[in-house]
Amino acid sequence: MTDRSCLYVVLAAGEGTRMRSALPKVMHPVAGEPMLGHVLETIGETTGEASIAAVIGPGMDGVRQFLGRKSPSASVHVQTERLGTAHAVLAARAALAADRDTIVLYGDTPLVTAETIDRLRRALADGADVAVLGFDAADPSGYGRLIMEGNRLLAIREERDASGEEKQITFCNSGVIAFKKGLIAELLDAIGNDNAKGEYYLTDAIEIAVARGLKTAAVACPEAEVQGVNTRAQLASAEAAMQARLRAAALEGGATLVAPETVFLSRDTRIGQDVLIEPNVFFGPKSTVADGATVRAFSHIEGATVASGAVVGPYARLRPGAAIGEGAKIGNFVEVKAATVEDGAKINHLSYVGDARVGAGANVGAGTITCNYDGHNKHHTDIGAGAFIGSNSALVAPVSIGEGAYVASGSVITKDVAPGALAFGRARQTEKPGGAEAVSGKPNSKDSQG
Ligand code: UD1
Ligand code: MG
Repeated sequence: MTDRSCLYVVLAAGEGTRMRSALPKVMHPVAGEPMLGHVLETIGETTGEASIAAVIGPGMDGVRQFLGRKSPSASVHVQTERLGTAHAVLAARAALAADRDTIVLYGDTPLVTAETIDRLRRALADGADVAVLGFDAADPSGYGRLIMEGNRLLAIREERDASGEEKQITFCNSGVIAFKKGLIAELLDAIGNDNAKGEYYLTDAIEIAVARGLKTAAVACPEAEVQGVNTRAQLASAEAAMQARLRAAALEGGATLVAPETVFLSRDTRIGQDVLIEPNVFFGPKSTVADGATVRAFSHIEGATVASGAVVGPYARLRPGAAIGEGAKIGNFVEVKAATVEDGAKINHLSYVGDARVGAGANVGAGTITCNYDGHNKHHTDIGAGAFIGSNSALVAPVSIGEGAYVASGSVITKDVAPGALAFGRARQTEKPGGAEAVSGKPNSKDSQG
């Protein structure tokens, strides 16, 4: 591609009424990321320099804030009335530059890949003035149909305006359309709203381009990349397609997923080589599992890092800010939040460790709880390297357990423990010989045992 810079106009103004949701359609997540976020990420992966103009609806403050966080350099435009996709693009008129190619993307089409967008751009470089990304739909209902004459694209017909014969066509419009520089504004200005919906259809740009003797082209891609999401059922279908893609990438990267269809990943989940993931594991956003680590069955991991050789689960929960060190072990029914578990440390059973550091090689016994919250504020617990925390201990933060210290089982620790010290924080056991009879009211004889 000679000219490498491109403007992407991302349409996100639709209300998505068929979603029946208080959330704008494009903010519904797929693989832990709003659909709009997928489109923005994909633009970032395309070849060359990209600028972004996003079109949102009035009052979509959440979408505006999301754009500000995710793509701070994007310009944001408000389509005040929802009058159709061409009208939406023209809401971004101030950003439409005559000196670069422009590609329109829909915020409700999260599966499109950068390679496919690059292929569409190549169609422009190869001489097309307007190029449409098309796909062969298993069920074309609801999609605009591509009216072809041999290799020439003559028009796009929206479902509602299509004749019975045109409805038979399965080659459909994905919504991704590329315009050679200098063309988009004048083509869109020529679009009217004389159609079944009374909307300004972006898709009418094709017929207008053909009438002006411009060259149009259709580039085909697999349906799985361009499913549009208008309903919750389609959202579930997009999720399934995205999960299939993410699992395939994890396997391709050298991880073993024993039952891939039961592992749920986020778009940004990073899984290294020789990682073993047992069945029924869920990864929320921002998680990394390094080479050679194991995640055992039924674990829930979000915003966490697992270093190489660590073993997590079964039934572990890693929450945001959990950093599990090399060779560390997090066992069943252990929850870790905002805590660093250093190399080789073990928290094997039934514990909550939050706002803490567990030093290298420390052993945290079953049932240990860091009492990090006093009802108002969160406090830190520091456990030194090589320390041993006996089972069923409560560490009342802020508190620190020195390196190599030993906390006796069942302790409630409210004061710092010095390095190497042995701390007891429990009631002393007393014993009354024969006292059982007095308590139970029954003679303590072997005959009464059932
Ligand atoms: C659109 C296409 C159709 C294509 C399908 C692919 C048109 C006229 N039709 O239909 O050919 O097969 O996508 O999924 O383009 N939007 C706005 N403002 C508006 C209207 C829509 O921003 O006034 C945005 C929506 O938020 C959405 C996108 O444009 O992200 C597409 O709109 P939608 O209503 O979903 O169009 P479809 O009926 O799916
Ligand atoms: Mg749609």
